[in-house]
Amino acid sequence: MNFSLSEEHLMVRDAARDFAQTELRPGVIKRDTLQEFPDNLVKKMGALGFMGIMVDPKYGGSGMDTISYVLIMEELSKVDASASVIVSVNNSLVCYGIETYGSEAQKEKYLPKLASGEHVGAFCLSEPEAGSDATSQQTTAIDQGDHYVINGTKNWITNGGRSDVYIVIAQTDRSKGSKGINAFIIEKGMAGFEIGPKEDKLGIRGSDTHTLQFNDVKVPKENRIGVDGFGFKFAMKTLSGGRIGIASQALGIASGAYELALAYSKQRKAFGTEICNHQAIAFKLADMATDIEAARHMVMKAAWEKDQKVSYDTSSAMAKLFASRIAMEHTVEAVQIHGGNGFVKDYHVERLMRDAKITQIYEGTSEIQKMVISRAVLKD
Ligand code: CAA
Repeated sequence: MNFSLSEEHLMVRDAARDFAQTELRPGVIKRDTLQEFPDNLVKKMGALGFMGIMVDPKYGGSGMDTISYVLIMEELSKVDASASVIVSVNNSLVCYGIETYGSEAQKEKYLPKLASGEHVGAFCLSEPEAGSDATSQQTTAIDQGDHYVINGTKNWITNGGRSDVYIVIAQTDRSKGSKGINAFIIEKGMAGFEIGPKEDKLGIRGSDTHTLQFNDVKVPKENRIGVDGFGFKFAMKTLSGGRIGIASQALGIASGAYELALAYSKQRKAFGTEICNHQAIAFKLADMATDIEAARHMVMKAAWEKDQKVSYDTSSAMAKLFASRIAMEHTVEAVQIHGGNGFVKDYHVERLMRDAKITQIYEGTSEIQKMVISRAVLKD
């Protein structure tokens, strides 16, 4: 077993670290305050290959592995979790979904622009009444021969207002339950597809979250992903990889907050010494460092399993469950270590604390991860 990163992986990590510090950090507080989507930065991340990290170079991607993906995600998330969720959804839900399960025509049509950052993608599963209970889709896709007609509402869609390519999950035959569900590629501008209100959020405010409305949207049959009835399995398989992305986002938020707290504790003085010399602070830092190390191992193991093409459903759920829990706990501690300064925006930790919460909710709540894990444990 080898725990060290290759030269290539170190270079990828350093490139992402450099980009995060020089390009993402300067405007991150403003984007958070104004809920401003980082259009220019998405283009720059596309040019660096971050929007199609694992996509085959023949479709315009970077052809990197999942280990590279999580290294990039951790570095971006340390600084700007809004930018990193745009990257995560584009890579592990949209590009991965199309490249792994799409037709050759779909790959050729959609992947090059998604991988270059010219287009952005969104993944539309959640509904007002079907967030966790994903088989209860109310959005319908009625088969009309050479096309489907889609009707319904999708909620909390990341990249919702800014995407060009939307993967939409919908129910074709309710009597078949999860086997009556399909996944479709819907393009911005299709008649009857409307982008609804933007959410005003607690965290990841620089990303763009919307309600979407589908009113008699006519979608050609060639836009269905996979065979009839494959949509639910498609969503589950794609989300398993997505959870590695969100786990690495949570890891990045935790490690970003830890690095800020560590640096602050070495320069802030109280009771005649730097506060890191007080055991009350030093022990918090020890707990943070230990949990972050454990989360990093879990994220890397899930990424490694995906690269080895062995099952990663359980390891990705475990990594997300653990990393999102410690992201929440340790961003709160990072604010505490900063004292009053932690409560104001200039010191960045209050934003990381707000951003951490969503990692326990999207791409399956912590309770959903426990369902996935407990089912696997009980089956053994
Ligand atoms: N891979 C392949 N197949 C899978 C699978 C997987 N990972 N998980 C389930 N399936 C299959 C099952 O084997 C079953 O198939 P068979 O009938 O052939 O046996 C079928 O799918 C139905 O599975 P279940 O009976 O397990 O389904 P369930 O209704 O009990 O639900 C669940 C399972 C795990 C709770 C699922 O509903 C789930 O993951 N819910 C959470 C959804 C989610 O993550 N939502 C977040 C929205 S996306 C998002 O947040 C994106 C964003 O914008 C950031």
